[in-house]
Amino acid sequence: MSATATAVQPPKVRQTRMLINNEWCDAASGKTFPTVNPATGDVIAQVAEADAEDVNRAVKAARTAFDAGKWAKTTASKRGYLLNKLADLIEANKEELAALESLDNGKPYRDAIAADLPLTVACYRYYAGWADKIHGKTIPINGPYFCYTRHEPVGVAGQIIPWNFPLLMQAWKLGPALACGCTTVLKVAEQTPLSALRVGELIVEAGFPPGVVNILPGYGPTAGAALARHMDVDKVAFTGSTEVGHLIMKASAESNLKRVTLELGGKSPNIVFADADMDQAIEGAHFALFFNQGQCCCAGSRLYVEERCYDEFVAKSVERAKKRKVGDPFDASVEQGPQVDEDQFKKVMSYIEAGKKEGAKMLTGGGRVGSKGYFVEPTVFADVQDNMKIAQEEIFGPVMSIIKFKDTADVIKRANSNMYGLAAAVWTKDISKAHAIANGVRAGTVWVNCYDVFDAAAPFGGFKRSGIGRELGEYGLQAYTEVKTVTVKL
Ligand code: NAI
Ligand code: MG
Repeated sequence: MSATATAVQPPKVRQTRMLINNEWCDAASGKTFPTVNPATGDVIAQVAEADAEDVNRAVKAARTAFDAGKWAKTTASKRGYLLNKLADLIEANKEELAALESLDNGKPYRDAIAADLPLTVACYRYYAGWADKIHGKTIPINGPYFCYTRHEPVGVAGQIIPWNFPLLMQAWKLGPALACGCTTVLKVAEQTPLSALRVGELIVEAGFPPGVVNILPGYGPTAGAALARHMDVDKVAFTGSTEVGHLIMKASAESNLKRVTLELGGKSPNIVFADADMDQAIEGAHFALFFNQGQCCCAGSRLYVEERCYDEFVAKSVERAKKRKVGDPFDASVEQGPQVDEDQFKKVMSYIEAGKKEGAKMLTGGGRVGSKGYFVEPTVFADVQDNMKIAQEEIFGPVMSIIKFKDTADVIKRANSNMYGLAAAVWTKDISKAHAIANGVRAGTVWVNCYDVFDAAAPFGGFKRSGIGRELGEYGLQAYTEVKTVTVKL
């Protein structure tokens, strides 16, 4: 653990209630739940706990704003103006928001301020730009008719987000929904409600009309499930586990066939050929796996290394992992904070046990760091086989699994023999190999000689059981619009 002075002070928590119809309220039940600092295990604050009745109130507010309220009458350019204003307010409060993110989630402040905040601001600005550029086509159909399409907002969007990038997930959900003219009820993750609620204050300050954005902290099986099955919600957008993704689809099927988009788990192959720039590939693979404490849906968690460079790659990756600095997220020299909560900590430790039991070679790490908080040592396994649990399942922690491969055909086949298809990467100087991987691997994103390059303009989402639909970019608008065809006899 680091003993150096902390660079940034933890922030003051200003908002712990829920936002419904631009008012801050307690839960109808009066219940609250604790949100915990994962670096210490201490309770930061008690937060209003939404349940079905609060979901009803929030959906009613969103429905009214959409059907007859001020949002329905707000012009597209005004929607863009409000989104830009929100982006400006977030930017003006970026240090406070980054500190809240770090406090509640455990991620290093230096990562929150360098990555989460700028990406969040950029996402709102990107969708602000789209607001008055969403339109249909005129279509030359047969006969004396004038035919055109309108891209109308889908209606009330229920949005359920996880804890690994709380501010950014909020932006990925609210940005496109608001640009398209939807109203929203956002259920934030129970582990990390604080930054989203602070943004709620900025939403009100920016001047969004009542009911347009409603924010509910609360648990999944209660508040989340009530939103997923609500008859007045037109669409649900979910990011989280594949297991809950199935439940969301089922709730839609059993209620009103609300539109569903899902961004779920991954077990992304990161493929290193012997002809790659080794130093870049080693640092890139380290970042791909360990960034955000390994809690990334697209983490490069199946690290396939060509047999010709395998031993060198493993040795240097172990050295790099040993140097990774773990400790206080507010210490500017720290690269890795705690896992988000005790459940995730235990889950990661159980995968480390499984790796050892199944005969993978643990070359560094494997233990807890310190005696409080949920810190895990950066861990590297070599000689991992495709059929081992640590090579098959999402670990969501700082555990690297290095697997050997022979050639391009071999690695494509093995990369695809997994239920997920979220992301992949390839490291090589050979353009033919790069394209063979980019074309051959079934995944929503492929990075070549880089990893985790995100941009609000570039679509993101999964093949197979990594999800349905795309977020970000122009594609991210589709999920929030209905296409209406109008045919006029001339
Ligand atoms: P989760 O899928 O249970 O939680 C994500 C969100 O869904 C939270 O807001 C939660 O309250 C809500 N939720 C939970 N159950 C629900 C239900 N029945 N109906 C509606 N909403 C529900 O994920 P959890 O338990 O936090 O993490 C479990 C695993 O999921 C992680 O270890 C990781 O493997 C994966 N995960 C993937 C993420 C991604 O970015 N794709 C993000 C978070 C977790
Ligand atoms: Mg869960």
